[in-house]
Amino acid sequence: MFFSRLVVLLAGAGLFVQGDAIESKNVVKRAIRPNPSNGHWVDAWATMPQLTEPANLPPAPFNQSGAVFVNSTIRQTLYMTTDARQIRLKFSNVFGGSNLPITAVTVALPLNQTAGIHEIQAKTVLKVTFSGKDAISVPNGALAVSDPLNFPIKAQQIITVTVYLATGQTTNSITSHPGSRTTSWFQFGNAVNAASIAVTDATTQSAAHWYFLSSIEAWVPPRTGSLLIVGDSITDGRGSTTNANNRWPDLLLARLQQSGSTNSISVGNLAAGGNRILADGLGPNAFGRIDRDVLAHPGVKYAMLFEGVNDIGTADTTPSAQSALYASLTQAFTQIVTLIHAHGIPVFAATITPFSAPANVTIQPYSNAEREKTRQRVNTWIRESGVFDSVVDFDKLLADPNIPSQLNPIYDSGDYLHPSVKGYQLIADKFPVGIFGEWADGADEFSWGQ
Ligand SMILES: *[C@@H]1O[C@H](CO)[C@@H](O)[C@H](O)[C@H]1NC(C)=O
Ligand SMILES: *[C@@H]1O[C@H](CO)[C@@H](O)[C@H](O)[C@H]1NC(C)=O
Ligand SMILES: *[C@@H]1O[C@H](CO)[C@@H](O)[C@H](O)[C@H]1NC(C)=O
Ligand SMILES: *[C@@H]1O[C@H](CO)[C@@H](O)[C@H](O)[C@H]1NC(C)=O
Repeated sequence: MFFSRLVVLLAGAGLFVQGDAIESKNVVKRAIRPNPSNGHWVDAWATMPQLTEPANLPPAPFNQSGAVFVNSTIRQTLYMTTDARQIRLKFSNVFGGSNLPITAVTVALPLNQTAGIHEIQAKTVLKVTFSGKDAISVPNGALAVSDPLNFPIKAQQIITVTVYLATGQTTNSITSHPGSRTTSWFQFGNAVNAASIAVTDATTQSAAHWYFLSSIEAWVPPRTGSLLIVGDSITDGRGSTTNANNRWPDLLLARLQQSGSTNSISVGNLAAGGNRILADGLGPNAFGRIDRDVLAHPGVKYAMLFEGVNDIGTADTTPSAQSALYASLTQAFTQIVTLIHAHGIPVFAATITPFSAPANVTIQPYSNAEREKTRQRVNTWIRESGVFDSVVDFDKLLADPNIPSQLNPIYDSGDYLHPSVKGYQLIADKFPVGIFGEWADGADEFSWGQ
């Protein structure tokens, strides 16, 4: 059976060639030439796509029953993490309840290099197209990529992306990143080229959330690659300053930029507040989003995991529940590393930082002696299992030396869980940047370090 079908196929192929049916066509070359010619795409900025909770939808009237952003312009600012001459944009509709009809998009530089503002430098506006067209309808579940743009960027620079949806998205299930810590602006009508958003009511025309945009890729030289960080609110920036880009990955990027040995590393923040490794809740579980949030991104050179506190903190406080969680969590860590190693990408881990409060304080619901035991067990496993290619001991950096179950008060934002900006700066300052050189050649299941 198989053999005879093969013969028929071969005979058919032969006829086709002989019949002179295939002619080569002149391919229309793109107007934009890649610079550098031997480059590749890498994230200059990335965020974790989530199904937007009702409270994180845009304010009314940009949110209606059954539709969002009807006849609306959305202007958002993003922090770049690498230098490049060319960029492209990705829009995610992975959690959308309907198609996402994008009508027009532009990029520009904001006025005065400032994050979270709606004013742009009008002369820098550039139209964004999708396979040559201004508009694109992104089906639910899909990711759309723009054409490359000649739009030079520098690491630590802010750029502005403005999107117009003529009909809006006709659902209240949309894709966003609520924890932007950056103000976005909205107005009715098409204002993608406007120097500023026509603001009459800042309370309904702005929100500290990002919508639809999931990454900005940069065309970079071969040696440039990204560090993608999978995490929770501590990486997403709770405790950092809105519009100041002082989350710990931002501060680490600033440090990496200062040295020729690390300034070719871009950073993608794939973290979300409340996120867990083993179960959905605030955002999809981390075990389940590795494909989309790490492996589907181009040019990833390093991955890092700093997560688990919300798994421990929401699990029952009985010894048996905590012991079961320990087993599942360490197994999931191992699975995630194995999945990422298959792509030759080294995986670093951070130890889980303290979340206990003093006995007379009740504001920290995670605080519990049994959960602290799990945190200590998981951290010992992270340090000693050999599963990770390198371990960065955030716990040791931020714990109170006298009360190791608690954050050092100097670095506590006030809730006994999230570090303050001072704590985030400490992570950046003390980060063992030598691990990037150590693992520059990649890692796999059979790597044992150097
Ligand atoms: C947006 O609209 C939906 C559906 O009517 C509603 O459930 C949600 O609370 C609204 N959210 C905001 C922020 O207005
Ligand atoms: C420019 O930005 C800086 C820092 O964000 C700010 O301090 C300054 O006031 C801004 N200047 C103008 C003219 O907006
Ligand atoms: C879209 O909004 C603009 C600005 O408010 C308005 O002038 C225009 O008529 C609206 N278009 C539609 C189709 O509603
Ligand atoms: C808890 O106890 C400590 C030490 O006695 C004290 O300094 C602190 O003010 C107390 N905090 C509260 C919220 O009662």
